[in-house]
Amino acid sequence: MQEFSKFPTKTGRRSLSRSISQSSTDSYSSAASYTDSSDDEVSPREKQQTNSKGSSNFCVKNIKQAEFGRREIEIAEQDMSALISLRKRAQGEKPLAGAKIVGCTHITAQTAVLIETLCALGAQCRWSACNIYSTQNEVAAALAEAGVAVFAWKGESEDDFWWCIDRCVNVEGWQANMILDDGGDLTHWVYKKYPNIFKKIRGIVEESVTGVHRLYQLSKAGKLCVPAMNVNDSVTKQKFDNLYCCRESILDGLKRTTDVMFGGKQVVVCGYGEVGKGCCAALKALGAIVYVTEIDPICALQACMDGFRVVKLSEVIRQVDVVITCTGNKNVVTREHLDRMKNSCIVCNMGHSNTEIDVTSLRTPELTWERVRSQVDHVIWPDGKRVVLLAEGRLLNLSCSTVPTFVLSITATTQALALIELYNAPEGRYKQDVYLLPKKMDEYVASLHLPSFDAHLTELTDDQAKYLGLNKNGPFKPNYYRY
Ligand SMILES: NC(=O)c1ccc[n+]([C@@H]2O[C@H](COP(=O)([O-])OP(=O)(O)OC[C@H]3O[C@@H](n4cnc5c(N)ncnc54)[C@H](O)[C@@H]3O)[C@@H](O)[C@H]2O)c1
Repeated sequence: MQEFSKFPTKTGRRSLSRSISQSSTDSYSSAASYTDSSDDEVSPREKQQTNSKGSSNFCVKNIKQAEFGRREIEIAEQDMSALISLRKRAQGEKPLAGAKIVGCTHITAQTAVLIETLCALGAQCRWSACNIYSTQNEVAAALAEAGVAVFAWKGESEDDFWWCIDRCVNVEGWQANMILDDGGDLTHWVYKKYPNIFKKIRGIVEESVTGVHRLYQLSKAGKLCVPAMNVNDSVTKQKFDNLYCCRESILDGLKRTTDVMFGGKQVVVCGYGEVGKGCCAALKALGAIVYVTEIDPICALQACMDGFRVVKLSEVIRQVDVVITCTGNKNVVTREHLDRMKNSCIVCNMGHSNTEIDVTSLRTPELTWERVRSQVDHVIWPDGKRVVLLAEGRLLNLSCSTVPTFVLSITATTQALALIELYNAPEGRYKQDVYLLPKKMDEYVASLHLPSFDAHLTELTDDQAKYLGLNKNGPFKPNYYRY
């Protein structure tokens, strides 16, 4: 418990994942919504609502929006065929029969597809939101209408946030035996308030960087009392969510906020990891002149081989039109850099936290802040120079654009398999520790998505397997994933 409390919880941190995880207070505008939190002033907690079957085992903004939410879920299903096929394949066996899953994730059309898949596989689910802004109210209503005990709405207060989690955990006659968390707040709440529940919990599946970090700290302190699966570091997340999701969403976020044309513009990308690689590839394709900064010689060499100029930020800071941080580090763009930028330079962050750009250093009396659009601030220097700061240095794509459903499908399928694995694992397979999903399952997640491309996997022959020293039934060597 103490280990947990050392870490920031809800306020001021972001847990990433695609999927989409971020600080529960970060704004998240990508979810389409038919209503916003201001459509009526009565708190959902004060309302008496029932679904068409007479159940009131939920708390959402407005149950009457369920039909709109159902349409959103159906649209998401179109690009989540792997999850649907997992649903169909495993429906007969019901590998989650008896599972009582308490979940805390973003509540969007895509997570609704995951939740409904878990239900179709036999689980009972109770769900709250891991972010106070990201709930699609109509989707929450559709889940409630379908009988899921969902407690979430867009624009929850801090108190509502914990109340919703509590309503999911603290139920008479129902005790969770699995946790699916995104950010670690739910796990934290159970540790703090209801540690006895862990006697029945078979495992925790955690998706975000922050949540995983908190789990490792617990494990190190010998306080983790159940097995946990780290989905954040699984190959299917790192190589797809971080790389391809960012490749698709960086331009969307920049365009929506600035209308800038990228052909011929000079852009510097800080960090050439998965996220940086995705951003650079997208910008290069539009004809931007892309510079990269790196601290790791291997990634720096990769950037060179991919045709990017590797530079120090201070070398190019005066001339670039756009600065993008993707390092997961802090204070990568300092006040000194910001002082030296040219007029109208756009500055944004694609990394985990809002500390990559030293935004705090810009809150000084000599600088004027002008909000020009939602998520766009002009910071104005005394000589009239303006720097265009996007999303106040928070994750650009999660704050200002949408995230591709297909990538969320990969992460959601990984989460579903992690739950199935932990729930069905024989006694002793997993100890009270943090695990990565077995490689074989990463391969399975990938293969489930291949039919979307009408792709046909070549079968490894016995001879070839012997030659390569592989077990034909896999998993393949970890380094087969590297490039
Ligand atoms: N925006 C999104 O949708 C999204 C998706 C996934 C991950 N992320 C986040 O983006 C960040 C990067 O993720 P990743 O998977 O690319 O990680 P990564 O570890 O693969 O890459 C980070 C790179 O930054 C480099 N770096 C660190 N400090 C630096 C500095 N001061 N200057 C220049 N380079 C520096 C590292 O050497 C590394 O190569 C993480 O915080 C991650 O949580 C964001």
